Amino acid sequence: MRSVLRLFAVVALAWWSAACGERGGATRLTFSGSALGPEATVVRRQLARFAERYPGVDVELRVTPDAADQRHQLYVQWLNARAPEPDVLQLDVIWTAEFAGAGWILPLEPFGLDADDFIPAALAASRWRGTLYAVPWFVDLGLLYWRTDLLDAPPRSLSDLGDAARRVQSAGRTRFGLVWQGARYEGLVTVFVEHLSAFGGGILDAAGRVIVDEPPAVRALTFMRDAIGRDGFVPSSVLTWREEQARFVFQNGDAAFMRNWPYAWALLQDRSRSRVANRFAVAPFPAGEGGRPAAALGGAQLAVNAWSANPTLAWELVRFLTAPEQMLERARLAAQLPSRRSLYATDALAEALPIPVAQVRQMIDAAVARPVTPVYSELSEMLQVRLHRALSGQQTPAAALREAAREIRALLARSGLAAEDQTP
Ligand code: GLC
Repeated sequence: MRSVLRLFAVVALAWWSAACGERGGATRLTFSGSALGPEATVVRRQLARFAERYPGVDVELRVTPDAADQRHQLYVQWLNARAPEPDVLQLDVIWTAEFAGAGWILPLEPFGLDADDFIPAALAASRWRGTLYAVPWFVDLGLLYWRTDLLDAPPRSLSDLGDAARRVQSAGRTRFGLVWQGARYEGLVTVFVEHLSAFGGGILDAAGRVIVDEPPAVRALTFMRDAIGRDGFVPSSVLTWREEQARFVFQNGDAAFMRNWPYAWALLQDRSRSRVANRFAVAPFPAGEGGRPAAALGGAQLAVNAWSANPTLAWELVRFLTAPEQMLERARLAAQLPSRRSLYATDALAEALPIPVAQVRQMIDAAVARPVTPVYSELSEMLQVRLHRALSGQQTPAAALREAAREIRALLARSGLAAEDQTP
């Protein structure tokens, strides 16, 4: 069946290329995604190579905002209006269920992708109700960057981290201990997920019950709040920072630790801009009491717009961009992690990726995904508001999480998605 479909796709493409040639007009395919640091160079190169393969096709890059929530908003506007462009969308790992549920992206099964090679957690986030709607493109992991010129080893526990951060800070060797993303946006949720895991908590349990108001979660949020307030090793300015602000501070040599994604590695190694080139390493975010070290699972997937005028060609672009060669190039230039498992056993990846592969592989296995649900964006927003209130001292962590849990339970019930024993 698959090979018949593939043959059909090839014939359709050949016909379409010929038709284009006859008309002499170019077909435009639009791709939307992020272009942070070296990402722009990588994606432009790869789109140009794709266009070389398909004479008569112009591929246009629509750069979208770096901030996950802003990009989401833009996509919702486009897709809600049934805009046929962009044809191919770079989705955050947390959006696929929502977009699939809304009918905004095409089911990909008819195109016959061999999905076995993809990292299971990333693949699970690409499916909705058992159907594949996106292809994992690169995987993001929350990493703890630490300064090798200030510390001998990465912290083994959260209390170690706090002690080391305060020590370095009070010796006047850096301005700040630890920096992370604390603005009221999606990044804050990923930082919280790592703290949750460190204390043995979660947002939803395996049965879909809301557990974000339970004691481990309260301990996690209390630790984050105290790190800013009482313990003072996280500056309160993080409450307005996203990834790039944290990176600038760490890059200037102003922090001993930073929580950030792999993309920062390549930029921190750029000697012309960074004061910490060759003076940092990464480790998993360490465990606190009752939990385990963990990294939040992030990353991007590629999907085809349900109203694209050229779905077959759009699919070809998805297939091209998710091929091993493209992933290796992205690893080399942007330090972004491939979503294909087989690459992790190759010398090619070890040579391409500046971050030690063995370490990354271990972290991927322990990565924590955010809930896969079509109402994720609303759920996250409820959490963002309450987390931010607790961190800025407007509410106690227990009260903030109680409110968040109540709102999330009501949201799930409204959407018919509540776990059975949590139906009001
Ligand atoms: C990164 C991750 C994404 C996450 C976002 C939060 O882009 O890949 O999954 O939602 O950061 O800021």
